[in-house]
Amino acid sequence: MSTIVLDRAAVRVAVDGRPAPKTLLEELTLRLTEQRIGVIGANGSGKSTLLRLLNGLVAPSSGTVTVDSWDTVRAVREVRRRVGFVFTDPLSQLVMPTGREDVELSLRRSVRNGRERSRQAEATLDRFGLLALADQSIYELSGGERQLLALAAVLAVDPEVLVLDEPSTLLDLRNRELLRRTLAGLSQQVILSTHDLELALDLDRVLVVDAATVVFDGAPAAAVGYYRALCAAGLAPYGAGLERPRLEQPCPERP
Ligand SMILES: Nc1ncnc2c1ncn2[C@@H]1O[C@H](COP(=O)(O)OP(=O)(O)O)[C@@H](O)[C@H]1O
Ligand SMILES: [Mg+2]
Repeated sequence: MSTIVLDRAAVRVAVDGRPAPKTLLEELTLRLTEQRIGVIGANGSGKSTLLRLLNGLVAPSSGTVTVDSWDTVRAVREVRRRVGFVFTDPLSQLVMPTGREDVELSLRRSVRNGRERSRQAEATLDRFGLLALADQSIYELSGGERQLLALAAVLAVDPEVLVLDEPSTLLDLRNRELLRRTLAGLSQQVILSTHDLELALDLDRVLVVDAATVVFDGAPAAAVGYYRALCAAGLAPYGAGLERPRLEQPCPERP
């Protein structure tokens, strides 16, 4: 398993018309070593920002993020080779007209020989049950098929870590189940954000993000319980006496 370390990493951006930068993520120190890690939290809480830090799509404004000691800013190529990123909407990721071409495109750097590249692309598509759809326009695939294809295109180059930003949000129940099983069968380290709390319960460790910071970090059932309490407190009528739930214990520092 890879070790991803955030060392006092924070993300702030300048916003027009605001004197002070906006904080997208407060200073965070985390050590991510488990095979299956989830990130849950409300819309706008900072989940995507946190995930994007992990492969250098977003650079920390202060502090550092490293993947097996490779810095995501100074060694972004090494990091990207190790950490694959799957976006919520596969259409923002799939750039070629067909699945076959897209997977071949992923392999263009790592496999120079054209015939070998075709062979590997075909093997990857086959592994995900997508071979029959390989030459169909990506616009004529279902949402679930497209999401699997985006996953296949990223996994074709065999990254050590797979980061997925809300991969099941656009999927129906059947495709969600298919995605869940596919992810469960992967040997890679998987880090994903999700609103699917059932999926979160299947993981090894879950972080709850709220208002640009990690407010809970621990076992899935406890994290989901915390998140539910947080949402319930947020919905309480003003003055109902409910406060934001306190952490029963501070976010544990992982070894
Ligand atoms: N480049 C940016 N400039 C300004 N604000 C941003 C930028 N990217 C994200 N944000 C804001 O930061 C907050 C966290 O965003 P994000 O990480 O996408 O949250 P989530 O994925 O949990 O919905 C949101 O309020 C979002 O609007
Ligand atoms: Mg997001």
